[in-house]
Amino acid sequence: RVADASGGDLVGRRVVVSAGGTREPLDPVRFLGNRSSGKQGHALAVAAAQRGARVTLVTSAPADLPGIDVVPVETALQLRDAVHAAAADCDVVVMAAAVADFRPASYAPAKIKKSHDAPADGAPDDSAPVIALVRNPDILAELVERRGGADSPVIVGFAAETGDGDGSVLEHGRAKLARKGCDVLVVNEVGEDKTFGADDNTVTILRRDSDEGVEVGPASKAVVSDAVWDVVAGLL
Ligand code: CTP
Ligand code: CA
Repeated sequence: RVADASGGDLVGRRVVVSAGGTREPLDPVRFLGNRSSGKQGHALAVAAAQRGARVTLVTSAPADLPGIDVVPVETALQLRDAVHAAAADCDVVVMAAAVADFRPASYAPAKIKKSHDAPADGAPDDSAPVIALVRNPDILAELVERRGGADSPVIVGFAAETGDGDGSVLEHGRAKLARKGCDVLVVNEVGEDKTFGADDNTVTILRRDSDEGVEVGPASKAVVSDAVWDVVAGLL
């Protein structure tokens, strides 16, 4: 399976992988972010390249990966532009990035100070600021909407879920796969001490066209990546 002189099962394929947590700036020194390390997405990119694919990795995490075309981004809007640009004419798009659902409604071009002069009387105002948020576009949903005919790319989503009163991790995953309309959804359970920044991962790979899920792990992110590419290769 690994590419050598004779190639791997993704030779001739173009794939796009997004990775890492987006950072949504508030002012020049602050952002809203999340705990995604980007490791799973980077492992997916490396595994695809080893299997012979041409890989574009759009990532918010630092990456120095030989043989992979790395596009660094910070915000959800930048990630969106980079993914759509790279996704034209590709065979697979994997949205492993943890895209912020919301961003600050406005960006303060100067650092927000903890107290400022109240406009009326000039007395210091120490009240806490309220940060208004607006929704970011759903990039995965846009990819699904833009999907055309038979040569459309295979679209893979990721979902970090916790079980709750409304359902188990897998029930949330199945519902999300149906809602998102992508071809494959890789579901992983997150929690206080699970997954974030870890080198191992435990996932269930769900396909839209099958009731069976593939369970993988706990295993290295490299092993999880190969299991994802095994499923995707079967759909190409
Ligand atoms: N995603 C995206 N754009 C967004 C949010 C999410 O492309 N603005 C993608 C992620 O990269 C991932 C998938 O959608 O592949 C699922 O993300 P998730 O956060 O689990 O789904 P949401 O629809 O945002 O639902 P939730 O309310 O659970 O956060
Ligand atoms: Ca989300």
